[in-house]
Amino acid sequence: MNSYIPKHVAIMMDGNGRWGKARGLTRSEGHFAGAQTMQKIIDASMELDIKILTLYAFSSENWTRPKEEVNYLMKLPVKFFNKKLPEFMKRNIKILISGNISALPRPTKKAVSKAVEETKNNDGIIVNFAFNYGGRDDILQAIRKIIENVQNKRIELNNVNEELVQHFLYTKGLPDPELIIRTGGEKRVSNFLLWQSSKSEFYFSDFYFPDFNKELLSEAIIEFQKRTSNL
Ligand code: FPP
Repeated sequence: MNSYIPKHVAIMMDGNGRWGKARGLTRSEGHFAGAQTMQKIIDASMELDIKILTLYAFSSENWTRPKEEVNYLMKLPVKFFNKKLPEFMKRNIKILISGNISALPRPTKKAVSKAVEETKNNDGIIVNFAFNYGGRDDILQAIRKIIENVQNKRIELNNVNEELVQHFLYTKGLPDPELIIRTGGEKRVSNFLLWQSSKSEFYFSDFYFPDFNKELLSEAIIEFQKRTSNL
């Protein structure tokens, strides 16, 4: 077995709602616990020397959830970044956002944009939040931009290739994730990184995300190493 650490790991942080419910708490309280775990997983990723961590924090489908829950999920990044930004600066963490941020409520948009702007020169771990992200939306918005560029004659149709598409995706500049982890027991792709996952290894954990931890992350990486040793 090799000891290669995947450079880019993406996590579908599923099971917050069920975690809350199982404890007689609200779904939002489950998300709060999820945000705390998220911090621990960022720490663990730094310790394990993962270079890029993508976290699925809000999908383009999540808008159909109860209004109260959506409002809470929109407020979480405001609270989270206000509190954590100085520490992210100190620890050289670079924040990126993949998703349609133009559709976010103003305070949410402001908080995430500020986090991206302030950390843009950091060159430690990249924590990329997939926020208001959908894989189909990602591909569609890239198609629209490419067509616009072809129509304006800035790009020739013959030059539209995989590399060019990559350049227009929300994840522009990031290598594809080598390992995608989904917590919470479901085994679906749920519109996450559809283009980018063409060669990714998938790992499914039955633990609800708030119960996920460094040890479980390491187990996923060991499984990844076992699978990729034979390649
Ligand atoms: C899926 O669990 C999880 C989410 C929709 C939200 C995940 C968000 C966080 C962990 C915190 C985000 C914080 C910041 C600062 C970006 P679910 O609600 O679908 O759980 P269920 O499957 O049990 O219903």
